[in-house]
Amino acid sequence: MDYTLQQRGRASIDFLADVRSRSDRLEAIADERAIADGLDTETLPDDPDALQKHVAPRLEAIPEFRLLKLCRDWTLEQHGLVAIAAFEEIRDAVSPQLDALQSQPNRVSYADDPPDPDYWHGVEFHKSAGGWDGHDYMGFVHGELIHRRMVNPNFFGLIYATRKSVAEAAPLTAPERILEIGCCSGQYTQGVAEVFPDAELWACDLSPRQLEQAQRYANEHGLNWRLFQADGAATGQPDDHFDLVTSYAMFHEIPTAAARDVLQECLRVTKPGGYTVIGDVKAYHAYDNYSRWKNDYWNQVHGGDPHWREYAVTDLAALALEAGFSEASWQGLGEHHYPYVLIARKAG
Ligand SMILES: C[S@@+](CC[C@H](N)C(=O)[O-])C[C@H]1O[C@@H](n2cnc3c(N)ncnc32)[C@H](O)[C@@H]1O
Repeated sequence: MDYTLQQRGRASIDFLADVRSRSDRLEAIADERAIADGLDTETLPDDPDALQKHVAPRLEAIPEFRLLKLCRDWTLEQHGLVAIAAFEEIRDAVSPQLDALQSQPNRVSYADDPPDPDYWHGVEFHKSAGGWDGHDYMGFVHGELIHRRMVNPNFFGLIYATRKSVAEAAPLTAPERILEIGCCSGQYTQGVAEVFPDAELWACDLSPRQLEQAQRYANEHGLNWRLFQADGAATGQPDDHFDLVTSYAMFHEIPTAAARDVLQECLRVTKPGGYTVIGDVKAYHAYDNYSRWKNDYWNQVHGGDPHWREYAVTDLAALALEAGFSEASWQGLGEHHYPYVLIARKAG
């Protein structure tokens, strides 16, 4: 969709993205200093709490690290506020287009009794002001202004390719019917649709505002997505219905108990012989201890992701087998082992 930000909003967004990417360069300097000051990265404790206790004070004593932390904390705390302010400057110009893209043919099917799990309600994941639903156009604010304009440049423009790689990992050539869980504003959905253009594609999320942005994307691009508001643990779909059930970047945002319930539901709605494929961030065991410390520090401890560590230390393949899948593997993709992908097959 074409739109033009006002000068103030555009400059604020670009500034924030720049602070984030330029301050990232301080990381290597802080690493070098810590090692020069005697941190032995070969003998670090495995336990995540002990690891934090051992490494964090040493790094926090380094001025470059403190500056890096200041920049990262500040950009995280500001990105939602800056994006909302940028949107408000163009609200009158852009909202008629956004509303028109919601009119047809793709519709969101809203739940009569909206699911609202405790771990999700009102949580500002990644410290995004307003969370998933805290603004009437939060789908556009998050999917377009935060994710595409601010986050994507800091991931070298690779966030969409990473998502597509998860769909490509599904061991199916021509699934007839696919269900995506936790589709948010439709960013992984785009990858799934590209990899399996002929499949009937269903996608659910808890957040109505994010589903509306997915709906706009589908309408704008002539795609036929069946979007509905539901908890991934209770989708309301028939038993044995989908060749592929899939999700990306949702499991690190939910506690393990909820992950168990979602996997149980995935098993129920997957056709016998079909697959559930779950992509998400890298497992902790795939990192050396120093990199693991960093990942834990910036996400679990300071990143506004309360379930990150719990996800990263839980063997998803074991959870899937426990749920009743007949085969399951959980591995990293490519040379960087990123993202991590669970491939679970239902017997049949
Ligand atoms: C980080 S976003 C993932 C976004 C998306 N899949 C992507 O590729 O960017 C996590 C999404 O999971 C949704 N979510 C969290 N718990 C859920 C649940 N139990 N059922 C359905 N969606 C859920 C959130 O509302 C949010 O939209």
